[in-house]
This record gives sequence, structure tokens and C-alpha cells, in this order.
Amino acid sequence: MKKNIALMRGDYSSPEIVAQAVRVLDKIAEKYGHEFVYTDIAMGGNAIDKYGDPFPDHELEKCLASDSVLLGAVGGPKWDHLPGDQRPEKGLLKMRGGMKLFANTRPAKIWPQLASASPLKEEIVAKGIDFVVLRELTGGIYFGEHRTEETECEGKTEKRSVDIMTYTEHEIERIGRVAFETAMKRGKKLCSVDKANVLDSSRLWRSVMHRVKEDYPEVEYSDMLVDNCAMQICRDPSQFDVIVTENMFGDILTDEASEITGSIGMVPSSSLGATTCGVYEPIHGSAPDLAGKDIINPIACILSAAMMLRYSFDMPAEADDIESAVSRVLDAGKRTADIMSEGMECLSCSGMGNAILAEL
Ligand code: IPM
Ligand code: MG
Repeated sequence: MKKNIALMRGDYSSPEIVAQAVRVLDKIAEKYGHEFVYTDIAMGGNAIDKYGDPFPDHELEKCLASDSVLLGAVGGPKWDHLPGDQRPEKGLLKMRGGMKLFANTRPAKIWPQLASASPLKEEIVAKGIDFVVLRELTGGIYFGEHRTEETECEGKTEKRSVDIMTYTEHEIERIGRVAFETAMKRGKKLCSVDKANVLDSSRLWRSVMHRVKEDYPEVEYSDMLVDNCAMQICRDPSQFDVIVTENMFGDILTDEASEITGSIGMVPSSSLGATTCGVYEPIHGSAPDLAGKDIINPIACILSAAMMLRYSFDMPAEADDIESAVSRVLDAGKRTADIMSEGMECLSCSGMGNAILAEL
């Protein structure tokens, strides 16, 4: 099969991990007789440097014309002084909105080889951690109106800022359906997370989820308040199979969910909309302090490439092949610095790429 892949190499240490993922994809293409054609896309800090814009329309057009996008990570101190609407993160949000990627999937799964790296107690980890969070990605407070204005208070002028959180029924319903479908393919358990005791948008969220649930009688459904969920994720993560939640709650909970697996450098993600053209990226950042040293962990990016093969290109055998190669490399005691422990062999970023290639 021939596939056109848009590559966003990203900022700081990101190009180093994307390079390793491309080596893995090329090996897969050779082994299974596919052809992957790459187009470089500027987004984030690199796009600001090149075009003075974190994600120009012409770059978005190239993404929409591709079969899928593989992304490193964007942002870093070089662009921190810029105003909100010109920052690298704005490029990311424009990409999500422009490509209509409303469903973000972030797995939280413990690799048995790395279980000791989890900050949770051994007896909690022993019960198992294997769930996915579906984060709504194109609505809510991230995409509502943002403004800062002057206001009068007790004779003094001060600033007042507003960020608006909005959800419509169809936005909730479409992520709800993806979540129920995901649960059907996994353990048939879905927990919808909201703040329905305070927010109107959450009460609407909950009522729509209850409507959708009627179509999935096999799924064991529950509602949970977001503060309780944050607590339950570290108290007993084994209770979760699929979590679905709105954009900002999902942002916060997925950082927590990745941390309990002990290795943020291992977590891939997918963002999809109504088509199979999606964005695949590690959930970690651009690690400015590691840039140029060839020490960043490329595994999350390599696993993101595997997710792309599985979910966008319908190549499950090829995806399995990459995931089991990663597992065998870990079995052999090979690590990068971020997941290093006593008695293991510490590899560079490209060294980890070599080790995974050798297993394919
Ligand atoms: C994420 C990140 C982004 C978000 C930032 C960089 C805008 O934290 O993908 O989780 O908040 O969505
Ligand atoms: Mg985040």
C-alpha cells in the first residue's frame, strides 16, 4: 500500500525522535511491501521561525491532503515571550480544530518491564493498569472565547479575564459514540467524567451520555466527578477500562494517567475526527534540555507510528510487529536514560532506534 505521511518534526529534541520513528516506518515498508512518502510540515516554534506564524494555512492544507500526520512535540523557551495567540501551542490548537480531530486517545498502560518505575505502591500496580482516556479535543474552554479587558471595581481600574467553556449536544454525542465503540472493543466498561455538580456544560454532557448509553446496553457505564476521578486514578487505576471526558479535564487527567505508568517517554496518542486522516504523537513535550544530545527516548514516537498503522492505515500486523519489537528490546534490558534502572543497559536515542530496528 502507498501512504502519504505528513511529518511534523517539531521543536527542540523532537526531530531526533521523529527521525527514529521514520527509520522504523521505512523498515516496515520494506518488510511488508508498502511505500511511505513523507512531506515535511512546519508547525509550532519551527513554523514561527520560518513563516512568523505557528501554523500557516498552506501547512494545514498539506496535512488535510495527507493520509495521516506524525508529530513530534512543539514549543519551548525560545518562544515563551510571545503573546498567547502567536505561541507554538496556538499552532497545535489550530491543527486540531482545522483537521476536526475531536477524539484524542491516550492509553495508560503499564509495561511489565517498567512496573518498578511507577510512583504508585506495588500492591496498587499489581492489580494492573490498562485503560485509555478519550479526551474531547476541539471544544470546551480551549476553543471558547478568550479575552482580557479593563474593568472598574470600587473606583479602581483593574484587569478582568474571561475564558468561556461551551459544549453543544452534537459535540458531546460524537465523542460519546467513539468512547462507547472503544469500550466495546476493550473491556466493555466506560466511565464518563464531568463536573455536573457545578457546571452546566457538564450537566448537558451527562444527559447526552445517558442518551447515547441506551444504544450500548452491553457497556457497563458510570459517571464520575472529575475531582474524584483524579483521586481514583492514583487510588485504584485497575477499576478503569475507558474514560471519556471534556477537553480540559482530559488534558489534566492524561498527565496524571501517564505519570502512574512511570514512563511518560513511552506513551503514544492518536487524534482522529470523522475520517482516517489523524495526528499521531507522543504525549510528552519537546524536552528542550535534552535537545542535540541524542539521549531522548524515541519509544513514544515509535509507538505513535505503530498506532497510525493500526488505526489510520488498517495495518494491524505491522503495528503488532513494532509493539512486540519494543517489548523484546525492553525484555533484553535495553533502556534510555529516562527509564534506566540498575543492571540495565542505557542506550542513546539513535541506539534505541537501532535496537528496535534489529528486532524487526
Ligand atoms: C497536551 C498539551 C497541550 C494541551 C498544550 C501544549 C496546548 O498539554 O496536548 O496535552 O493542553 O492540549
Ligand atoms: Mg497536556
